[in-house]
Amino acid sequence: MAYSAYVFDAYGTLFDVHAAVRRHAGAVGPDGQLLSEIWRAKQLEYSWTRTLMGSYRDFWQLTEEALDYAFRKVPTADPAQRQNLLDAYWQLDCYPEVPAVLKALKAAGGRIAILSNGSPAMLESAVRSAALDLVVDEIFSVDAVRRFKTDPQVYDLVTTAWRLYPQAVSFQSSNRWDIAGAQKFGFRTVWINRSSQPDEYRDHEPELILPSLEGMLSAM
Ligand code: LAC
Repeated sequence: MAYSAYVFDAYGTLFDVHAAVRRHAGAVGPDGQLLSEIWRAKQLEYSWTRTLMGSYRDFWQLTEEALDYAFRKVPTADPAQRQNLLDAYWQLDCYPEVPAVLKALKAAGGRIAILSNGSPAMLESAVRSAALDLVVDEIFSVDAVRRFKTDPQVYDLVTTAWRLYPQAVSFQSSNRWDIAGAQKFGFRTVWINRSSQPDEYRDHEPELILPSLEGMLSAM
């Protein structure tokens, strides 16, 4: 079945968040992977706690604060790399299959959007640097509602703007918690389980689980 709209999470789904540290791995030091994991985990934790507290700061600020925490937590990592890592975040690699899959879904008649915690400026930069600007019809940032995923107001940005029922939207994310929120909202959900994580949120199951976006074409 083809959907009217294919909506993608950005970080971890289209763009590889660990590409920033990988790009500067030699200079960061031996614990780069740990630094990158703490950076990402804290960035997400801040998004959830700030939404619950009603104390919004945009995702770029959270990304900076999370990196500063990660450097303090991993003393072997060279904090002189701070600016390089932050700069790299604006030009993250997209996963290799992304451009072809998005183009094929669009050619089949679907509208293509990104729905992300990222600030509008971060998302525009990432989309441009991955040359996805011609295929992505719209970028929805949580910044419009000043609340992060999994707040239902975030998923509602798409259905309100595009005047669609949630069931007409196929939502893809590599973040299992994001899939839970989107499924609860009513989207058809596809969990892109890129790193073979165990399943969770079992009361909010995705319709489909794929190892990458590749299988999207046969699952239309
Ligand atoms: C995003 C976060 C979940 O792009 O990575 O919304």
